[in-house]
Order: sequence, then C-alpha cells, then structure tokens
Amino acid sequence: MTTLAVIHCGQLVTLAGPSRPRIGPELRDLAIIPDGAMLIRDGRIAALGRTVEIPADAEVVDAGGRVVLPGFVDAHTHLVFAGNRASEFERRALGASYAEIAAAGGGIRSTVRSTREASEPALLSAARRHANWFLSGGTTTVEAKSGYGLSLDAELKILRTVRALGAEGRLRTVPTFLGAHEIPDEYRGRTEEYVKLVIHEMMPRVSEEGLAEYCDVFCEPNIFPVDVARAVLRAGQRLGLLARIHADQFSPDAGALLAAELGAATADHLECTTGAGLAALAGAGVQPVLLPGSVYALGSTRYPAARRMIDAGLAIVLATDFNPGSSPTASMPAVLSLASTHMRMTPAEAITAATVNPAWSLNRGNDLGSLEPGKLADFVIHDSEDYRELAYFFGREPAFAVYSAGSCVYKRGN
Ligand code: NIG
Ligand code: FE
Repeated sequence: MTTLAVIHCGQLVTLAGPSRPRIGPELRDLAIIPDGAMLIRDGRIAALGRTVEIPADAEVVDAGGRVVLPGFVDAHTHLVFAGNRASEFERRALGASYAEIAAAGGGIRSTVRSTREASEPALLSAARRHANWFLSGGTTTVEAKSGYGLSLDAELKILRTVRALGAEGRLRTVPTFLGAHEIPDEYRGRTEEYVKLVIHEMMPRVSEEGLAEYCDVFCEPNIFPVDVARAVLRAGQRLGLLARIHADQFSPDAGALLAAELGAATADHLECTTGAGLAALAGAGVQPVLLPGSVYALGSTRYPAARRMIDAGLAIVLATDFNPGSSPTASMPAVLSLASTHMRMTPAEAITAATVNPAWSLNRGNDLGSLEPGKLADFVIHDSEDYRELAYFFGREPAFAVYSAGSCVYKRGN
C-alpha cells in the first residue's frame, strides 16, 4: 500500500460537486480549499481538506504554496499522426486558404499519406512526443481519434498506437474511431464506396478488437453530408460505439441537429451553429465541445458562442483539437486563454469545461475530472499562486509536476 500526502497547496482546486456535468452558474464554482492538503492511497484520493492526518509511512509532496488542480481532460484530439504540415502553415501565411490546400490534395490527405507510411513503432514514438506536450500543459487524459489512416490496416494501426500509448501509464487515452474523417485519394469521387468500407470492414474489426469506445464523423455538406454521417454513426451505435460529431465547423446546424437526433455524447466545433441547433442540443442533453485553438490557428474570428451555450444550460467542454493542420497545439492553458479572451468565459468556467465536464463527456466522470475522495489521483501542481493565472499568463506551460493515479508522470525541468 503506497500513501502520498500532498501538502501546502496554496489553492486546492477540487471541483467537488454534483456527480454530473456542471451547467450555468455551477461552472463558476471550483470548490477551492485554501492552503489545502490531500491524502492519496493506492492511486486514489483518500481524504482532502485544510489539513489531513499524515500517516508515518506516507511520502510527502510539498506543493510549496502552488495551485493544485485535477489533470485536464482533453476530450477532442487527433493525437496520433506522422509528419507535420509546416510547409502548408507557411503557404497559409502567404495567403492560401485551408480549403484551397485541402482541395489540392494537401490538408488531412497529406497527413494520411505520411501516417500510412509510418511503421507502428515510429507512430508510437511520434505519439509519445505528442504525449509529453500534453503532460507539460497539465493534461492527464486525452480522447484520441483515428482518422489519418483511412484504410483498414492504417486505421487499426493508429488505434493500436492509442492503446499502446495509454498502456504506458503516463497519459490516459480514450479511443475514438474516425474512419469518416476525409475521403482518401484512392476513393476520390466514390464517397459511397468508401463509406461502405468504413461501415462494413473497418467498424466491425475496430469493435471486435475493442479498439474504440466512440465513433466520430466529419459532418460537412462537401465531406460527409448529414445522411452519410447518420448512417456511419448509427452503424457505430449498433456495435456499441457512442457518437461524437465534428459538427457545424463551416456550415450551420445540420451537425448539431444530427447529434441531438442520435443522442450523441458530444457535438464538437459548433462555430456556425444557430439558436435552433443550440436548442436541439440542450433538449437532447448533448455536450458541446468547443475548440478555439482551431479557430485561432485558421486565422478566423468566428469563435463558438460559449455565452449563449452557457445561458442555454449546456454542459460545455473545451478541448484542443490537437492536429497537424487546423489546431497544432496540445496546450490546454492556451485554450483557457482563448476561451477567456475571445469567448468571454471566466477562468473558472473555462477550468470546469476543461476538467469535470469533459470527464463526464467521456464517460469517466466517476473516476476523473475532480479531486474528491474515491476518485483517481490525477492532479497537477501548477507553478502559479492563483488558478486564474492559468488563463491569464498566455504562452507558458505552467505545469510543475503532473501525477496520474498518484504517480509522478512529468516534472518540469529547471
Ligand atoms: O478537427 N475538421 C476536421 N478535422 C480536423 C482537422 C484535421 C487536419 O487538418 O488535419 C479538425 O479541425
Ligand atoms: Fe477535430
């Protein structure tokens, strides 16, 4: 039995509260214990308060007055890919648009080519490198999508890599199958045939091998229109894969309405969603996942309407959308900054949307997302005196030490 006592937490930000995602004014209640302490036994939180009784055999971690938070839960990432798109980034700086680059065979399809070529060990070492970026920002759990394979073997390779990374015990992973991310080169103009491959060959194997918990689709009129997206997600649901949807990133409402119709766990992006889409999400209890990193990195100013969503009673989530094209960041602190600066979310609302709410969206709410007795001890000591600094000082990674189930998995170098 190992026991850990974390003492001198200047602010112990627990997010203790009801066992469900937080909405409305609840988003501002972080349940902070000033100068708090926490006792951990065998990877789970045993007690926390102003003081805790420290057993003689406990290892003591002195937080030195710093802020302690639950590890961030990043509910939308494309963590596993090979290569990068720095040259497209440069072309965009010179005036080319994301859509033009994609239409000319770049974009997602370019990453598909490099990911198909990579061996499984090479992909795992790229994933480990990305995992360190997440950890250095204080993220301890990520949802990780496939979608840069787009063939049976390459999609399985990506999902096995997600599993292997999670099994290493540093960054927790929750896998999502995103075979319907783009039409690969060899199926251009043959969407229907490609979708058959996704539904009849990829999904059954993914489900048989237990390689995914969720199924996602890039739902856009010119990629996978709503009828196709519905067919893919329904096929996933029949196999026990719950739905998440890339919805309304470039065109309004069809994705949000589909998410509501199917009872999806989340509808992600929502930059173009109108009041009708929001009302449908609220009615169906779908959680919106907002991805301001992709709005920023695409040079757009069309941020999703976070305040309207909060007013509509939606249990909002913030995530990075980490990927090599539209959102090349693994930094949840960067996302908190964007949320406060461009979406008028308070730092407290943003932190709730980056911890407890995403944990529920990934069906991990009973174990992750807040610091409460019985939950897993996934926590981060941030080099900050006040939790608001995480959103306020932008462009730094504040994590000082990161713990997963009570074990230190990342420590900042000096
Ligand atoms: O979530 N929208 C589609 N997929 C990604 C972009 C992936 C890429 O550009 O490689 C997204 O923004
Ligand atoms: Fe995405």
